[in-house]
Amino acid sequence: MSKAKNAIVLVGFMGTGKSSVSKLLSERLGFMRVDLDDEIEKFEGRKISDIFTESGEPAFREIECKVLASILMNGERKIIATGGGAVLNPHNRDLMLTHGWVVSLTADARHIIERVRNDHSRPLLQGGVEERVNKLLEQRKHAYDFADFSVDTSRMTTEEVADCIIRQW
Ligand code: S3P
Repeated sequence: MSKAKNAIVLVGFMGTGKSSVSKLLSERLGFMRVDLDDEIEKFEGRKISDIFTESGEPAFREIECKVLASILMNGERKIIATGGGAVLNPHNRDLMLTHGWVVSLTADARHIIERVRNDHSRPLLQGGVEERVNKLLEQRKHAYDFADFSVDTSRMTTEEVADCIIRQW
């Protein structure tokens, strides 16, 4: 069933391993890899953090929706790593499920905080990583439930997560 879809779409909170897992899956399956945030930056010609500060989060979400649709509509086989908030828009969730096999990567708060603590590029985590992660995790606690398949990456290596996904694919 999943193999009938052209795309594997990785969704999940920041720090759950979407980027690293997508790189490994792309190598192992020989599919091209597309990172939604990178595509947004290319399309806009500015960094995600600049889009947030200059235009605000609602404008970022509109761009995210447009760029995601263009990636998903192009029928080539690919692995897509999405940004943690791309699932907030119901239209995005529908598109992901229609055009791809959606895999949710989860992790507990402690592991997420460890992984994102030293990366200061994420606009939504400015001003107190622990507090921001806990608050957003609470707000988004069911946001990733729509996925076709889910893997808890807290205690797994990137290789183990990729193996687990490939076994289900
Ligand atoms: C966001 C996650 C980020 C990026 C933006 C917003 C979010 O992507 O899209 O900063 O709302 O969770 P990562 O999940 O790759 O960090």
